[in-house]
Amino acid sequence: MRQVIAGNWKMNGKFSDITPFAAAVLEADLGADLIICPPFPLLQGFAAALPGAHGAIGGQDCHANGSGAHTGDVSAALLAEAGAKYVILGHSERRADHGETNADVAAKVLAALSAGLIPIVCVGETESERDAGEAEHVVRTQLTHSLPSSFAGLVAYEPVWAIGTGRTPSEADVTAMHARIRAVLVAQFPASGASTPILYGGSFKPGNAASLLSLPEVGGALVGGASLNAADFLAIAASAPRG
Ligand code: PGA
Repeated sequence: MRQVIAGNWKMNGKFSDITPFAAAVLEADLGADLIICPPFPLLQGFAAALPGAHGAIGGQDCHANGSGAHTGDVSAALLAEAGAKYVILGHSERRADHGETNADVAAKVLAALSAGLIPIVCVGETESERDAGEAEHVVRTQLTHSLPSSFAGLVAYEPVWAIGTGRTPSEADVTAMHARIRAVLVAQFPASGASTPILYGGSFKPGNAASLLSLPEVGGALVGGASLNAADFLAIAASAPRG
């Protein structure tokens, strides 16, 4: 299965970035599937600049409701209409900055699925949770409560302490957590859990991409800071094993 390399631009980027970034993506010959998740106002421009075969577009969040009095929020249906195929849900920055609970994330996943979007659901422990030996328990709880009973999408394991810090878990720790996530998914979704892609995220760089992407049960990358630079993002994607 081809790996998925998703770029999470967070609250970065400008309209003038779309054309040069898309041009670099269009020139690349990659063995991985690319997803660009820019801020909402850039979605339509990216969707127009990147024909589907070269890269899909994703949102960074959606509301659980289809419409209504929710100032500042965006519905899954509108993301889809803007050209998004994917949506990141439950990112640790949403959980921390906006108090999103696992139940909130599960409701958003359902909204995304019913709008035809493919959710990328993020889980991951904080540093204190890891130090306390609770990392696997925290991630298991997030999975069992953030994924609705019927789920089709991707999971991203992003240890909170590795996001934007330049620090990554050891290869053994990534391997162990991805194996644990796989076991939880298979138990929770007997029909599909074995094939749900599990991305790793947290301080991906061109220099560590080949080793992280070659680990068992790592199905791709969710890249933050390094995805803002087309050369770095494409170098990470070029490191994905061709499968
Ligand atoms: P980072 O962010 O690559 O900048 O660490 C990853 C993420 O938050 O998705």
